[in-house]
Amino acid sequence: MVIGVHRRVIAIDGPAGAGKSTIAKALASRLKMKYLDTGAMYRAVTFEAMLRELDLDDQGAITLMAQECDLHVGLDRVIINGHDATLAIRGPEVTGNVSKVAANSGVRTEMRIRQQEWATSHGGGVIEGRDIATVVFPDAVLKVFLTASPEVRALRRVDQSGGNVTEIAAAIAQRDLTDSTRADSPLASSSDSVVIDTSDRAIEDVVDEIEKLFMERNI
Ligand code: DC
Repeated sequence: MVIGVHRRVIAIDGPAGAGKSTIAKALASRLKMKYLDTGAMYRAVTFEAMLRELDLDDQGAITLMAQECDLHVGLDRVIINGHDATLAIRGPEVTGNVSKVAANSGVRTEMRIRQQEWATSHGGGVIEGRDIATVVFPDAVLKVFLTASPEVRALRRVDQSGGNVTEIAAAIAQRDLTDSTRADSPLASSSDSVVIDTSDRAIEDVVDEIEKLFMERNI
């Protein structure tokens, strides 16, 4: 039964700035499906660990905190242990530390369980992250890996949150490296993912393409 629900998952993976959130949200809205941002889950755990001034290198302590936290990631709000972390999780402090927390296997196991439970309770959905197709939902009905050139990705981040393009590009490159070289479920495209380069494409155009792929498979 769980497998059936997980087949109603559209997995959207890719590096920072590839357009995942914008595209996944628009797709979910168009298909009237639920949407889950799994990056926000790792960010919220990082936020809470920093708030409690835990040592981010203490894998056991961070894992325990992740296992015990009350975490709600909705479309507009991210709440952890009663704290509204919606804005703080996008700030430079959390962004600078999240890769370390996301490399913690204990945290990943806990987040993976929560993501699978979320899909079961919502009857599937559009789920974005780094390991959604490869590890969390290997039987997803549709797997999409979004990419974009490093220049375009850095420019998009500057448009969203401001900052210096060169510095943002360097920070993105560092985060990509950490995310794609970690031992546990690194950022990678699945062999059965459809790879879409969003560099020179309009959002609506990419959403159209994914919707078409989904309609073809969702018989
Ligand atoms: O998508 P994002 O930038 O909000 O992700 C934040 C961090 O979490 C990023 O360093 C990659 C990591 N992440 C992950 O390891 N696995 C996921 N499924 C989603 C995000």
